[in-house]
Amino acid sequence: MPAAMNAPSSTPSLSERDLRLIAEVDAALTRFLDGAGLPPNLAAAAQHAVLAGGKRMRPLLVLSAADAVGGSVEAAMPAAIAIELIHAFSLVHDDLPALDNDAMRRGRPTVHVAYGEAMAILAGDVLLSLAMASAAASPQEPLRIVRELAAATTAMINGQVLDTLGGFAADEGPERRLHRVHANKTGALLVCSCRMGGLAGGADERTLAALTRWGEIMGLMFQIVDDLLDETQSAEHIGKAVGKDREAGKLTFPGVLGIEASRNEVRRLHGEARAILAPLGSRAAALDGLADVMATRTR
Ligand code: IPE
Ligand code: IPE
Ligand code: MG
Ligand code: MG
Ligand code: MG
Repeated sequence: MPAAMNAPSSTPSLSERDLRLIAEVDAALTRFLDGAGLPPNLAAAAQHAVLAGGKRMRPLLVLSAADAVGGSVEAAMPAAIAIELIHAFSLVHDDLPALDNDAMRRGRPTVHVAYGEAMAILAGDVLLSLAMASAAASPQEPLRIVRELAAATTAMINGQVLDTLGGFAADEGPERRLHRVHANKTGALLVCSCRMGGLAGGADERTLAALTRWGEIMGLMFQIVDDLLDETQSAEHIGKAVGKDREAGKLTFPGVLGIEASRNEVRRLHGEARAILAPLGSRAAALDGLADVMATRTR
């Protein structure tokens, strides 16, 4: 049970169960990369990108969504591994000089700094293809899971294009643009985590729709928090450069709404998310706990 349930004034933290699941995810990621048949230099870059660090929120969402619908960890693990590989791919390319040009990630040098740009591009590429292979190994609904993962990856890339290069409609105002960037670049993978967990656990369409709506709200909230951390935290604490969004003129929630209004929006979305899970009752306790952690995280 999250400590926060006993002491509401303290910051919510991951439950014992979440921590055990993270250890299982890490072990499965290690095994999967070891068995991928990569040449040693590519394997080293891929391991650098995936292992050691990372909050593993997306795999936790997959496993907790599966749990909420009565599914097993075993059936959901291939999808959990897959989403983390896509996420790692997105970060390796996001950090490249042509995109955000970042030198630190998870408190360590970014992949292109450690292994060179060519290797970072290729390591990102291989994480994408390995992710699809892992998703296809799901024992339940593999085709649907792969389709969902491919569509969400496309949406993430669309979002990265909007974020980096623009491409908005002329009549699209700043708030609408902001929502579209966030829903795509970050929201899509969070929604996909929830849906893949639901599919792996055998959810009915009604429950899948609730998980989808919850994931959309979490996705938006997650990126607003990321924007806030970029403005309010130190690089030492979050393990990546800060103040970059403003410097690069990115569309962010604090940039458009201000810091206080962005914090209020996080609280509002968190409340909305809670209400969506209420009909699922105690089965959704783990997802609820993750929402608390994602709303209040400081890194
Ligand atoms: C960072 O994601 C990029 C965003 C989409 C906001 P995370 O905050 O989940 O990064 P890690 O995996 O914990 O490093
Ligand atoms: C992350 O957005 C989106 C993706 C990686 C798809 P950011 O560029 O804000 O992520 P960080 O802050 O570098 O982790
Ligand atoms: Mg970026
Ligand atoms: Mg970035
Ligand atoms: Mg950011």
